[in-house]
Amino acid sequence: MEEGPNRKRLATRLIHPDRQASTDFRSLAAPTYRGSTIAFDSVADILDVNDVNQYRYGLYGTPTTRELALQIGAIEGAEHCLILPSGLSAITLVYLALCRAGDHVLVTESAYGPNTELAFVMLRGFGIEVERYNPLVGAGISELIRDNTRLIWTESPGSITMEVQDIAAICAAAKARGVTVAIDNSYGAGLLFDAFGAGADISIQALTKYAGGHSDLLLGSVSTNDDRLDRKLRLAQRLTGMGVSPDDCSAVLRGLKTLDVRLRHFEQSTMTVARWLDQRDEVTALLHPAFSDCPGHEIWKRDWSGSAGLFSIIFGNWTRRQVETFVDSLQLFTIGYSWGGAHSIAICYSDLKRPTPELGPLLVRLNIGLEDPADLIDDLDQALAKAASA
Ligand SMILES: Cc1ncc(COP(=O)(O)O)c(C=O)c1O
Repeated sequence: MEEGPNRKRLATRLIHPDRQASTDFRSLAAPTYRGSTIAFDSVADILDVNDVNQYRYGLYGTPTTRELALQIGAIEGAEHCLILPSGLSAITLVYLALCRAGDHVLVTESAYGPNTELAFVMLRGFGIEVERYNPLVGAGISELIRDNTRLIWTESPGSITMEVQDIAAICAAAKARGVTVAIDNSYGAGLLFDAFGAGADISIQALTKYAGGHSDLLLGSVSTNDDRLDRKLRLAQRLTGMGVSPDDCSAVLRGLKTLDVRLRHFEQSTMTVARWLDQRDEVTALLHPAFSDCPGHEIWKRDWSGSAGLFSIIFGNWTRRQVETFVDSLQLFTIGYSWGGAHSIAICYSDLKRPTPELGPLLVRLNIGLEDPADLIDDLDQALAKAASA
């Protein structure tokens, strides 16, 4: 430590300390690099903003955010991956990067609600034509493709109503017309369904769900193997300032270590609970990709390596009050939105914005968590009994 007249004053030493701990430290955990300003050795080193391998400013990436991007890209089988502040901002980035006034966009009727709203409220406001299509359209999508169709948005299985889409057929039709296909691949977490193998150009995930895995953060990803699309997406991310917290990325990097184990556990517990519910007379339909009631079940058998922890049940013969009593009576299931964490969650939809809005009040979506499935079944059993007499 420097002593004497050359020693800097306290305020300066607080910013430029005399001593620093060694960074020679080999932890098994990915380090969390936080930072806005990135230091350069000289003016000459200030780098080209388009050089994606360099660090320039914290908003455009730190080693922690880029480590997460590399790992999500590796899981999805994608050369390029960007990390966004939420699943919804990942969806937003795709639209902003690709669509311009005069373009036409096709969005599946089974898309995550805020995606549909974003398309109909904001994109339309920007002069982009938005059209919904039946998620089970398959190769028939070619009849909906117009000369100005820029993007086909897919999501499989669909939100809430769980339709499994024939992504390969949609991509083949789109490719023939030079149209880009994006998929919301959050349910499969990039592991259970090979979006790029099926021909998708872009795969987004809400990392908030399975990758994060603990209901304590929001993040999203956008992956692609197409260099041209990657350049457009990267530019849009930079221009819109959609940067992410390295702390959240670090939590997802930790979550990824158990992703495969958790997904396999979710599959088994969920199948146990779903099979039990399927036997109940009160349940008139069970929308889970591994069950034959689920629209697109045959496609799921063809394309998917497993199922996850999310499904819906319909109480076709019950009143709306009975369905609400059922959900209110659950003790181990939290009432709330989102899914993919350790807690079981239930929600019913009184205002389902689907071609089948009448199902909304009669439909309950369940997210199965890491509780013992026998306890979850006991909980469902007592809630069904209370609802029956409501
Ligand atoms: C299928 C799907 N995609 C995207 C999102 C959006 O993710 P986020 O909550 O991180 O914005 C959700 C959230 O519920 C979702 O269910």
